[in-house]
Formats: sequence, structure tokens, C-alpha cells
Amino acid sequence: MRRDMTRMSRRSRPAGEGKAVRGLKMTGARVAIKRPEASDAEWYLDAVRRSVDFISPWNPVSTERVAFAQILDRDASPSNAIFLVVDIADGGCAGKIAINNIVRGLFHSASIGYDAFVPYAGTGRMYEAMRLVIDRCFTPEHIGGLGLHRLEINVQPANERSISLARRLGFRYEGFSPRYLYINGAWRDHDRYALTSEEWPTPSSS
Ligand SMILES: CC(C)(COP(=O)(O)OP(=O)(O)OC[C@H]1O[C@@H](n2cnc3c(N)ncnc32)[C@H](O)[C@@H]1OP(=O)(O)O)[C@@H](O)C(=O)NCCC(=O)NCCS
Repeated sequence: MRRDMTRMSRRSRPAGEGKAVRGLKMTGARVAIKRPEASDAEWYLDAVRRSVDFISPWNPVSTERVAFAQILDRDASPSNAIFLVVDIADGGCAGKIAINNIVRGLFHSASIGYDAFVPYAGTGRMYEAMRLVIDRCFTPEHIGGLGLHRLEINVQPANERSISLARRLGFRYEGFSPRYLYINGAWRDHDRYALTSEEWPTPSSS
């Protein structure tokens, strides 16, 4: 699982992110975030394979190579940005955070999806990684951020771990969306949580 961190930090710079992002916090105490690259495929898929039983009750999971190709495609689209979470100590892939449905115009909003990977789940690493990603989302585009104003997290009401993560990050409960997403063969109700840039960083997350 150990990776060459010198190599990784050089390769972890997302496409198009050069000097403009200098000063942006990409690395926390225990994790770093990086955009996916083709060379991450096996590293990422190994982590997903370890985590199928953990993730599948809540999110669709695929361990096929094509699933990673789809991640690269999505990350290349202006509507999405994908971040992989790197454990600094051992270089393992600790999670994935997907910024989906980026809408510009008057909205400048997106929804966030995430999965923690075994054995890092439940250790606070996703919280740390989410702080880095949220910072990136709310940072203006001219200094390398995504320039968003609002982020939302949609969670099935029984997914206590995800709700706990969203709340700890300062996301507000906005409402209930019946039959919101098609997951595991059915349209699932979701609770909607949101955060705007004016609210960040929240006292609990700073
Ligand atoms: C939802 C999910 C991403 C949350 O990830 P997570 O690993 O639990 O989140 P964190 O990294 O913040 O870990 C939180 C836990 O670590 C604990 N922890 C341990 N050390 C910690 C530290 N130094 N700092 C903060 N928390 C720490 C916290 O107390 C918390 O445990 P608790 O939930 O028992 O109170 C994860 O459970 C998951 O992937 N679930 C399956 C897929 C899924 O549901 N995706 C989201 C769909 S909406």
C-alpha cells in the first residue's frame, strides 16, 4: 500500500493546477487530497475491493476497471470534480469525494457524494479530507478553486454515519426529498443538507 510520497505529491497536482493553487491547503494532518489520474486505477480499485461490503448498503459500488475510467471521464467534465483521499502515513487510498452536478450561472452550486474506504473509515480522515475539499470548492476560480457558493449533501435518513459527518462539517438540514435517488434497485428518500460559502469555515470545522 505504501507509495512513494515524493512521486505522489508531484503527480498529485491536478491537471491545470500549477502555480495558481500555491497556498491552497491540499494536505491536512493525516490526509491529502488529489485529483484522479490513470495511474491511480489499481490503487483506487484495491481500496474499493476492500470496501464493497461497507459501502454497498448506501452507494452503488463497482470494482471493474471501467468504473475508474468513468471517474476519469467525470473528473474531466465541467459538471464534476473528483478528489481521492490519500493517507499520508502509508499512502493508501482512504476515500473518494465527488463534487457532482456543478451548476454555474445564478446558482454556483453542487452536490457532494463520498465513500470512505476500509481500513480508514471511522477514523476522522473523511472529516479532514472533506474540510480540504470544501475549502477548494469555495475558493475562487482565479486562484485555483471551484468558485462555488453552495454545496449540498443528500443522505438517506438511516445513514447515521453520513449525517454525522455532514453535521460535523456544519451542513444545515434543509429538507426531505422523497424518492430522490435510485440506489440498490429502488428510489430512495433522502434528507438534504447544505452549506454556503458565507457559513464556511464553521466554528466546529475551523
Ligand atoms: C459516510 C462515510 C463516508 C463517513 O465516513 P467516516 O469514516 O465515518 O467519517 P470520519 O472520517 O469523519 O470518521 C468519523 C468517525 O471517526 C471517529 N474519529 C476517530 N478519530 C478521529 C479524529 N481524530 N477526528 C475526528 N473523528 C475521529 C469519530 O468519532 C467518528 O466516529 P463515530 O461516527 O463513531 O462518532 C462512511 O461511513 C462511508 O463511506 N459509508 C458508506 C458509504 C456512504 O454511506 N456514503 C455516503 C452516502 S450519502
